[in-house]
Amino acid sequence: MTSWLTPELSLCGQVFREGTAEGETPGNICLGFDLGTTNMVLVALDEEGFPIGAVMEPSKASVRDGVVVDYLEAIRGMKVCLDRLSRGIPIDESIAVGAAAYPPGISSKTAKVCANVVEALGFECGGLYEEPSAAAEALGMADGVIVDIGGGSTGMSVVRDEKVIFSSDEPTGGTHMTLVLAGALGVDFDRAEEEKRKNRNRYAPLLKPVLEKMATIVRDELEGCPESDGLPVVLVGGGADIVGVEGVMESIIGRPVSMAPESLLVTPLGIARSLWRDRYGSK
Ligand SMILES: Nc1ncnc2c1ncn2[C@@H]1O[C@H](COP(=O)(O)OP(=O)(O)OP(=O)(O)O)[C@@H](O)[C@H]1O
Ligand SMILES: [Mg+2]
Repeated sequence: MTSWLTPELSLCGQVFREGTAEGETPGNICLGFDLGTTNMVLVALDEEGFPIGAVMEPSKASVRDGVVVDYLEAIRGMKVCLDRLSRGIPIDESIAVGAAAYPPGISSKTAKVCANVVEALGFECGGLYEEPSAAAEALGMADGVIVDIGGGSTGMSVVRDEKVIFSSDEPTGGTHMTLVLAGALGVDFDRAEEEKRKNRNRYAPLLKPVLEKMATIVRDELEGCPESDGLPVVLVGGGADIVGVEGVMESIIGRPVSMAPESLLVTPLGIARSLWRDRYGSK
C-alpha cells in the first residue's frame, strides 16, 4: 500500500511534538494558517520548504464548519499560535509570507475572510487554497480521493492530475463523535472529548455507527463521480483518528482506504507547502 508519509510531513510531526527544529537560520519563512472548527494550526517552513515549527490551539468557536464566524476571536486564536511559534523562531513580518485555506463549496467572499486573518496578523497573504488541494500537496498525491474528517465537517474531494475535480462537504465530523460519546457515557462534551483523544481504541465500537454514516455519504458521493473510479481513498483530519477507521470505511466504500500519517497536520502543512511551491519552489 502507498505510504503517504513525505519527508516534510514526517518533519512536521517531529517539530510539532518536539518544538522548533534545531540549527536552522530562517530567512524567507512560509507560514500556513489553518483555521479549523476545532483547531487552529500554524506551520512554518524554511526557505527550502521544510517545516521548522508547528503549533496548535483550540479554535474557541471562532470557526464553524470551516467558516470564520467570529473574526476577532479567529485573529486572537491565531495570534496565540504565532506568539508560541515566535518563541522558537524569530519571525519578521516584513519578510515572512502567509497563506490560508478554505473548505470546498464556500463563496469566494467567505473564503477571503481566511486571507484577511493572515493580513490582520501583519503578513502578506501570498496564497489562498482549497483545503483538499493543500492536503494533496502535503501528501505528494496527484490522483486520489481525500476524505477530510475535521471537527465540524467531513469534506470529500477527488483529485486528478493534482487538481480538485469534485468536492462536497457534510456537517458531520469529530464533534459529532464526541457528542455521541458524551451521550453514551453520560458526561459533558469536554470530558467526552478528553476521553476520545486519550482512548482511541476503547471507544471505537461506540463510534462505529458514526463512521459508517460518514462512509455511506462518501460512497454515495463517489457513485456520482465516475472520474473517481479506481482511485484510493485517503483519510486526513483529526476526526479520522479512531482505531480501525480504515476497515469500517473500506467495508462500506468498497475500495482501499488508508489513513494519512500525522492526519491533524496534513492540511496545515499543505497550505504552507503550496505557498512555498508557488513562491520559491519546484516539488
Ligand atoms: N490530539 C488531538 N488534538 C486535537 N484534536 C484531536 C486530537 N485527537 C483527535 N482530535 C479530534 O480532531 C478533530 C478536529 O480535527 P481537525 O483539526 O482536522 O478539524 P478542524 O480543521 O478544526 O475542523 P474542520 O475541518 O471541520 O473545520 C476533533 O474532533 C478532535 O476531537
Ligand atoms: Mg480542517
